[in-house]
Amino acid sequence: MPDPIPYYPVNEFGPLMKGLVIGGVGILHVFLAQFAIGGGALLYYFERVAQRGDADARRFVDGYFKVLVLVSFVVGALTGVAMWFTTIQVGARTIGLMIDEFHWLWATEWVWFSVEICAGYAFYRVGPRLDGRARLRLLGLYAFASWMSLFWINGILAWQLTPGAWLDGGGVWAGFFNPSFWPSLLFRTAVAATLAALVACVVINTMTFADPQHQRERRAALIRRAARFAVPIVAMPLLAAWFLAVIPSDSRGWVMGGSLPMTMFVGVAAGASMLIGAYVILGILLKRLTINIATATMLLLLAFGATAAGEFVREGARKPFTVRGVLYSTSIRPEEVAALRAHGAVANDPYPLRDEHRYPTAQLVRGAKVHRALCDACHTMHGSNALTELVRTWSDDQLRLNIAKLQRTKGFMPPFAGNAEDVESLAQLLRWELAGAPTTWPPPAVSRDERPPIPLDQISKWLDEAGTEPAKEAP
Ligand code: HEC
Repeated sequence: MPDPIPYYPVNEFGPLMKGLVIGGVGILHVFLAQFAIGGGALLYYFERVAQRGDADARRFVDGYFKVLVLVSFVVGALTGVAMWFTTIQVGARTIGLMIDEFHWLWATEWVWFSVEICAGYAFYRVGPRLDGRARLRLLGLYAFASWMSLFWINGILAWQLTPGAWLDGGGVWAGFFNPSFWPSLLFRTAVAATLAALVACVVINTMTFADPQHQRERRAALIRRAARFAVPIVAMPLLAAWFLAVIPSDSRGWVMGGSLPMTMFVGVAAGASMLIGAYVILGILLKRLTINIATATMLLLLAFGATAAGEFVREGARKPFTVRGVLYSTSIRPEEVAALRAHGAVANDPYPLRDEHRYPTAQLVRGAKVHRALCDACHTMHGSNALTELVRTWSDDQLRLNIAKLQRTKGFMPPFAGNAEDVESLAQLLRWELAGAPTTWPPPAVSRDERPPIPLDQISKWLDEAGTEPAKEAP
């Protein structure tokens, strides 16, 4: 007898679906945290240059850039906490599984993060009063600790998409050093360095110098130094190809054209990165072009777009799982589907609906619960990825068939984890929502003359045909 399925209260976010909420917070967090890592290393480099007697580098280190690094690691920390708040509201079981599995590794990550915060804050507070050696040590510690926190968290996040040998009992280290560990760590490191270079280009453009005649050259000299940090961008196509090579073949298929939104996002991310790379390497470093604050800001915004698109694809490519092969996006384990097929999707769900009074019949209430349990991780009723829009033109039987064979309707959906009545309740709910949520709705009376009897037997047959396994090629 397997453990009973744990149920957690879930939150809804109106027209935003759960996945988007977590994605939005995640993108902001990743962007800030990656900049904070690259920014630390860049500060370390400029501090060394400054200590060799470069007065402009000294002014850069003591100027706004330092403040931006501080702001971004503080806001990065806050959005990190926000991630915990959102994940426990939308995917408590996923985050629970991650903590169970990587408890001590996560604690290790947290310790590095604490070191990062202490070193960064100490540099900010007392840095000006310290001697050169101590300043360098503090910055070095900050940069190293922040990269180490990336190192540890990266293993845990990469495991979600490519658990690798962990699936065959390989243990916690096999899960941590999983197939996408190195490509994504190196990729993120390159991104961190590039972001730091771009922010530095913006900041240097705000610096004014006492002798205005030489302002341009002196800024340009600093910018060329900072731009060296963006050189790892040339490795990105290679790292991205490596990453694509190790992810599951169905995920790769969607990214490479199977799911056009994902493919387009990959294109946006790759195109934006190429533009940035070309400008920085060909323009600034080779052709020694100057870059003004508007262009620098534009490049930085492009980088934000590329980060957002990349994160969207990385999260999207994992569907229908939050932990590949282990836990569906619906917080149901693959081996639990069969039992839910037998007993019903929501028979044990203890949580009432928030808006139960909206629904005129018990069948619609059940449909709404089934939707909450099985669909609303990735859909909303009327907002993003709205179910009513997706099925607007479908006939009743088309609706029943496609829901019953959900994983065959689209391979990035899990198998339907409920019985024939659940399918029918959901189909009725969608019809009712499409009809404008009227105050009366025919009860599921099989005998009513004007409606054909509900084909529960037929739905059961479709469910059996679809099976309880995740999507593979059709037999
Ligand atoms: C793991 C995420 C996920 C879950 C869970 C999920 N879906 Fe989907 N579904 C998607 C995505 C992504 C699409 C593609 C949307 C598009 O093509 O614009 C989709 C498409 C659909 C479509 C349109 C299919 C087509 O071929 O046009 C329907 C209908 C649908 N889903 C119904 C459901 C129902 C009903 C549930 C719950 C029982 C559900 N989905 C659960 C992610 C999911």
